[in-house]
Amino acid sequence: MGQITELVRLIPADPGKPARKEAAASRRMSLDLALHPSTWSAEQAEETVRRYTELAPVWDDERGGYRPVPLADALERGGPWPQGLCLEVGCGTGLLSGLLHGVWSEVISLDLTWAMLSRSTEPWRIVGDASRLPVATASARAVVLADVPLFADEVVRTLAPDGVLVWSNALGEDAPHHVPIPTVLAALESVSGESWSAVTSHAGWGLWAVLRRNG
Ligand SMILES: C[S@@+](CC[C@H](N)C(=O)[O-])C[C@H]1O[C@@H](n2cnc3c(N)ncnc32)[C@H](O)[C@@H]1O
Repeated sequence: MGQITELVRLIPADPGKPARKEAAASRRMSLDLALHPSTWSAEQAEETVRRYTELAPVWDDERGGYRPVPLADALERGGPWPQGLCLEVGCGTGLLSGLLHGVWSEVISLDLTWAMLSRSTEPWRIVGDASRLPVATASARAVVLADVPLFADEVVRTLAPDGVLVWSNALGEDAPHHVPIPTVLAALESVSGESWSAVTSHAGWGLWAVLRRNG
C-alpha cells in the first residue's frame, strides 16, 4: 500500500466534542459503502435525503462552528494544489464552500439533498449523487469529500491524473461518515490499480487527509 504521512497536530481539540447517537450505525454504512460501493441503493438514497431534509434548517446553527476546522487545516498544509476544477461532493448547505474558493477559482458544489443545497449561495450547484457524478472523466483537479460517503470508483474516474482527493471528518474517528484513512487509500488503489499516497493530520475535533496518485 502507498505511504501515509501523518503531520503533527497544530490545532488542539477543545473539551466538549459532541457525540452523535446515530454515528456508529452510520459509520458501519460508510465503511460498507467504501468497500462495496455497488451496494448503494435507491432506499439508502431516499433515507439520506429524508434525514438531511430534516437537518437542513438547523445545520449551520448547530454545526457551523466546528465543521470548517479540519478542512481549513487541510487546505493550509495539505498542498500543493493542482489548479482547475474543484468538485465539492456532498456540499450540504455550503458551509465549507467558501474555504475552497481560497484555493480554486472554479468550484462546483453537488449534493443529493435539495433542502441542504438550496441553502447554499454557491454560483455553481448541482443536485446529484456521489455514486454517479455528472462530470466528465479526468475533468477535476480536486474532489472534496467532507463527511460524505466514499465512492472510490467515481473519485478515480473524475480526477485528472494529477488530481487530489481532499477528505475530512469534522468529528474525526467519531464522525458518522468516518472511514479510516488506510481504507480510503486502499479503496482508491484497488479501483485505479495505481499506487496512491496520503498526507493526514488531526485538527480540532476532526481529521483530514489529502490523497494523490504517486508519480
Ligand atoms: C454530513 S453532511 C456534510 C455537508 C457538508 N459537506 C458539511 O461539511 O457541512 C453530508 C451531506 O452529504 C450529502 N450526501 C450524502 N450522500 C450523498 C450522495 N450519495 N451523493 C451526494 N450527496 C450525498 C447529504 O445530503 C448531506 O448534505
